[in-house]
Amino acid sequence: MSISTRIEAALETVITRAEGDQTPPGLAAAVRYAVFPGGARVRPSLCLAVAEACGDDEPGIADAVGAAIELMHCASLVHDDLPCFDNANTRRGKASVHMTFGEPLALLAGDALIVMAFDALAQGCAHNPHRLTPLLRTVIQGVGMPRGIVAGQAWESEAHIDVAHYHQSKTGALFVAATRAGAIAAGQAPAPWTALGEKLGAAYQAADDLMDAVSSPDEGGKPTGQDVALNRPSLVAELGVRGAFDHLQSLVREAVAAIPDCSGASGLREIVQAQAMRLTPKQFSRSAA
Ligand code: IPE
Ligand code: IPE
Ligand code: MG
Ligand code: MG
Repeated sequence: MSISTRIEAALETVITRAEGDQTPPGLAAAVRYAVFPGGARVRPSLCLAVAEACGDDEPGIADAVGAAIELMHCASLVHDDLPCFDNANTRRGKASVHMTFGEPLALLAGDALIVMAFDALAQGCAHNPHRLTPLLRTVIQGVGMPRGIVAGQAWESEAHIDVAHYHQSKTGALFVAATRAGAIAAGQAPAPWTALGEKLGAAYQAADDLMDAVSSPDEGGKPTGQDVALNRPSLVAELGVRGAFDHLQSLVREAVAAIPDCSGASGLREIVQAQAMRLTPKQFSRSAA
């Protein structure tokens, strides 16, 4: 089964279980709207690719972890788009969740997705509980305090922000969780996979800052020009457009170099390079290639 088929099936399983037959219809609809159709699914793809490179001896656990990480990501997007954060009207090429369902259901859908992520881990590890604790800790580090998504978003409420630290928390941490959790799901040590997550996460946010500065809303399916409008620290503000692009290029090279020597290395290189091309604004595509 392809990685993409595994991810969609795992997400469907967790959401169907959570819905039961008594969820308020508006909440159930908002949750599905936030998850399907997906965006790039880059974090669970990375997680499952690492699990496969590590032998994938418990595919059910890897599927559950990939789903948990994507559910956390979807929750972060729903909350990030709310008026109290980025006030974004579109996401993934359609109206954002709060524009479609209202703010109360968007807030609750995000909360429900976070809880569902923990349910995915609990169910996925039910027959092999030894892997549950390290997986929980890994996902928690990617999402919570002191250096996960929540902390990263909270830096926006501080007067002084270090851009690298802000990016590591709001974006890099979940990429690190994805690579490390892929290894743990397959019963392997996570340490060799940390650098890949760090480099790819940094590259991803560099590309997002660049897209925000130079692309059209149609290209990314979400508003652009937000970093300047909201006075957010960004790599483009720090290095200029050309400097941010050069930095992105070196991070992609470093991400490729960080892939451990293993049987799945060439597949992982393809994932990293495909993501790098996808995220490179059109006017830079030729120099990126
Ligand atoms: C958007 O992430 C938020 C960032 C951290 C840059 P993605 O670009 O992975 O969003 P989707 O899931 O593909 O929509
Ligand atoms: C990305 O924040 C990290 C999240 C926690 C959502 P951004 O605000 O930079 O991401 P986009 O550009 O809205 O996807
Ligand atoms: Mg934001
Ligand atoms: Mg945003």
